[in-house]
Amino acid sequence: MRVLILNGSPRPNGNTKQMIRAFCEGLEEARHEFDELDICRMNVHGCQACEYCHGKGNGQCVQKDDMGKVYHALGEADMLVIASPIYYHGLTGQLKCCIDRFYAALYPKKPMKLAKVAMLLASGDADMYDGAMFSYRGDFLDYLGLEDMGVITAQAYAPDIPAEKIEEIRRFGASL
Ligand SMILES: Cc1cc2nc3c(=O)[nH]c(=O)nc-3n(C[C@H](O)[C@H](O)[C@H](O)COP(=O)(O)O)c2cc1C
Repeated sequence: MRVLILNGSPRPNGNTKQMIRAFCEGLEEARHEFDELDICRMNVHGCQACEYCHGKGNGQCVQKDDMGKVYHALGEADMLVIASPIYYHGLTGQLKCCIDRFYAALYPKKPMKLAKVAMLLASGDADMYDGAMFSYRGDFLDYLGLEDMGVITAQAYAPDIPAEKIEEIRRFGASL
């Protein structure tokens, strides 16, 4: 299986990145292939709602920025992983811009291979995931019809995610 991880954290060695590293270790154990796209280091603009993609563009976005790399990777992926810190009760703005741009590629038809989804979330406080979960269920499970492979959350005030949580995430990756 080929897994696409969209990393929505701007911190290169932050909590989300630690979660992704553990997850990828598990994926490697299970011999899955994966791509990680560091959305906060890419040039991805917000959707302009111009509807070019659903008209003349025939599924192509009119904006020519790094979203092209995301569209390409989405077309190759069997599974999508949304990885993000919680910002103001939701995903980061950078990741939200990227997800809004799915509109061109995933509406009204999703790429054939993409069938599964999971989410890795890092927060400061406990139980801060309702906003991200609302989007996960609405956008990825209900709307796109992807199979829910699970959501792992980590509350992380300390610089490092606790070792037992890292192990849980590694095992999750290996179980897929
Ligand atoms: C702009 C901003 C908004 C945040 N909003 C929330 C929030 O609403 N709830 C929460 O629990 N943590 C919030 N946090 C804390 C981060 O979610 C938390 O520190 C997370 O573990 C950071 O992950 P990272 O190291 O991958 O960046 C916020 C942090 C920032 C910078």
